[in-house]
Amino acid sequence: MIRKNLAVRIGLAIMGLMLVVSIVQYIALGQLLRNAFYQQSGLELIVQGQQYANMSSMGGTMMMQMLCTTSDTSLVMVGTDGNIITASPSLHLGKPDASDSSTIRTALSGQSELHGGYSSLFGNSGIMAAVPIGSTGKITGAVVLFRPEGIVETAFHHVEWLLLLVGVGGILVALGLTVILSNRIAGPLRQLAAVAREMSRGDYSSKVEITGDDEVGKLGEAINELAANLQHLETSRKQFLADVSHELRTPMSYIRGYSQVLAEGLVQSPKEKEDYLRIIHDESIRLEGLINDLFTLAQSDAGMLKIVKQPIQLEDVVYSVVDRMRKKAEDKEIEIQVSVSPLPRIDADSARLEQVLVNLIDNAIRYTPPRGRIEVSLIRLADWAEVKVSDTGVGIPAKDLPHIWDRLYRVEKSRSRVGGGTGLGLSIVKQIVEAHGGTVQAESAENVGTTITVRIPLHGSDAPQG
Ligand SMILES: Nc1ncnc2c1ncn2[C@@H]1O[C@H](COP(=O)(O)OP(=O)(O)O)[C@@H](O)[C@H]1O
Ligand SMILES: [Mg+2]
Repeated sequence: MIRKNLAVRIGLAIMGLMLVVSIVQYIALGQLLRNAFYQQSGLELIVQGQQYANMSSMGGTMMMQMLCTTSDTSLVMVGTDGNIITASPSLHLGKPDASDSSTIRTALSGQSELHGGYSSLFGNSGIMAAVPIGSTGKITGAVVLFRPEGIVETAFHHVEWLLLLVGVGGILVALGLTVILSNRIAGPLRQLAAVAREMSRGDYSSKVEITGDDEVGKLGEAINELAANLQHLETSRKQFLADVSHELRTPMSYIRGYSQVLAEGLVQSPKEKEDYLRIIHDESIRLEGLINDLFTLAQSDAGMLKIVKQPIQLEDVVYSVVDRMRKKAEDKEIEIQVSVSPLPRIDADSARLEQVLVNLIDNAIRYTPPRGRIEVSLIRLADWAEVKVSDTGVGIPAKDLPHIWDRLYRVEKSRSRVGGGTGLGLSIVKQIVEAHGGTVQAESAENVGTTITVRIPLHGSDAPQG
């Protein structure tokens, strides 16, 4: 259980690391000291041995023995046959083994020799130096000096304490770090997890109270943002569902009411009957349109809005839609002007772009009073094809302008409904244009008119295609 705690894990890892480092240090330092001992002592013993060899030629054996009793170096002198002539006092000599003998033999042959390791002669591990007495051809024996390795151990013991101290310090540091980490990271992370869990249960009320510009603080901020976004999404989803239900209920109640009147034979005149049938017909068309629009949006939400791109001539799309809408405009005595400049073919879905233009021109007709004017233009702007639909209509109040792309958003509910609007048209326009990698934009002045600008990239785009 406790091992599951992040701070404890990191703390243990640091402690483990400290331990490994300490052990490695211990071994390396021991090795280093030992090497230094062998190198340094080897040189010293050779020099010392040469001095003794000189003294011995002058008969200073006593002097040498005295010198050796005051240092940790042991001394043995051998004759030409290898037998021991004299040794340091209180030295318990053993039987020389093969390596002792070979070292001594080398010296007797006139050459100084060093040997490190265990020596049977001195009964200890250390370094041994054998130096010839006399010069080549007239060798009279050899001086054998030995310094035990033990003195390194003594020096090393002092260092051991130091290392132990460092190790203990390291563990204390690790403990301190564990506490700091646990406060700085593990604690906040636990709090983040708790908040995230509440969010997944649909409760967005609790906020993460972690700030600061380190990673944990950033994560806290991100989670707060996420909570705010989710909450917004949740609210707008509920709102949308309520709005859709309302939108569906209105035409349904008309249809049910008037069909009931007709079924019960309550109509007075054929004219009245015809009126009721027309209402039923209009409302069912309205329902159909609403359902189609909702379906398009649902497809787009599911990432399945199909955009089938083919090389198309955009002016063909413009002319065909304007021709189709002209009748509706003329019924309201609204004049439609078209201006088109030459454009290369672009890769786009002509049916979807027709849907865009139908929606825009339909809005322009709907929100422009009789005897108004609508202008549809198509021009090339560097890498973009730009379509503008301008009208001389009622315009959109500035406060509503940013919202017209929202689903079911209508500036004036009753006016739009009379005209057959659902408030879904512009959100579909936006989805389709953006699926083409393009942009939409609206400018408007109340009682002056509205201009919607659509830009489609000439050379396709990397935008995801549903
Ligand atoms: N050309 C325009 N002139 C004035 N208002 C417009 C125009 N186009 C859109 N609007 C406003 O934007 C709202 C959203 O438009 P849209 O999504 O097409 O829905 P609707 O079904 O109401 O036409 C409309 O209800 C209307 O208030
Ligand atoms: Mg519309």
